[in-house]
Amino acid sequence: MQILDGKIVAQAVKEALKQKTDLLQKEGKKTPHLAAVLIGTNGASETYVASKVKTCAEIGYMSTLIRFEASISEEELLKKIDELNNDTSVDGILVQLPLPKHISEEKVINAIAVEKDVDGFHPSNIGKMVQGQPSYIPATPYGILLLLQHYNIETKGKHAVVIGRSNIVGRPMSILLSQNSSTGNCTVTLCHSHTRNLKELCLQADIIVAALGKPEFLTADMVKEGAVVIDVGITRVEDSTKKKGYAIKGDVHFETVAPKCSFITPVPGGVGAMTIAALMENTFLAAAHHR
Ligand code: GUN
Repeated sequence: MQILDGKIVAQAVKEALKQKTDLLQKEGKKTPHLAAVLIGTNGASETYVASKVKTCAEIGYMSTLIRFEASISEEELLKKIDELNNDTSVDGILVQLPLPKHISEEKVINAIAVEKDVDGFHPSNIGKMVQGQPSYIPATPYGILLLLQHYNIETKGKHAVVIGRSNIVGRPMSILLSQNSSTGNCTVTLCHSHTRNLKELCLQADIIVAALGKPEFLTADMVKEGAVVIDVGITRVEDSTKKKGYAIKGDVHFETVAPKCSFITPVPGGVGAMTIAALMENTFLAAAHHR
């Protein structure tokens, strides 16, 4: 069993981006600029956005963090997005999800300029991705592909089971793994809450991507010997023995599943780190398009 170390691979991605950014600086060119919009005080969202902003600084990107109270109106938020769309100094825009209930996620995602949509959530980017055209690929699935690529994990002809059909992870992941590409050519089964024979399907899987958001859901009895297991889960579970009062749990019961796997991602230190690295790749790409 080998650990897929997201921290090491993310570090390599970030270092390569830093070198390219240093070069831009030396040539007197504008460095990439990411604008991150955070609404409310959701603890996990705060952590993710802080990490994104910190990574920008590490690489040498500019970043702007725009914070709003949870009570902001949809109209006000859309106005800000419009401003960012028209701000030529900004290359990439992300609005951290989830949003407060009174704000339409669909309207917000559709409002972001396609060429600045570094999250790759806009329907135009999703449509391009589905057709295999150049686009911004959502950061989590993109990060997983970078991880598979780094460890030379063969995907061609493999049966991949993706658990969870979210627009952010599961659905784009299922499409990317099925594509005719070096990190695709899988036969993909996309499972969700209405899937009847989940255990049987998982037992047939060469690759499992667990992205349903249920702590320690995937257990050893659901995994074939030698499978590759990618854990996207990152749930805060109350734990009074921890300083912060919670522990981070993945969707995989790591202790029992890991011994059966050929490769497995840990939580933390797996997919999470890669998500940010992939976002940074998209931001560099956006800046290159704007130059
Ligand atoms: N919430 C959870 N994951 C993501 C992500 O990749 N991007 C944004 N904007 N919000 C998220």
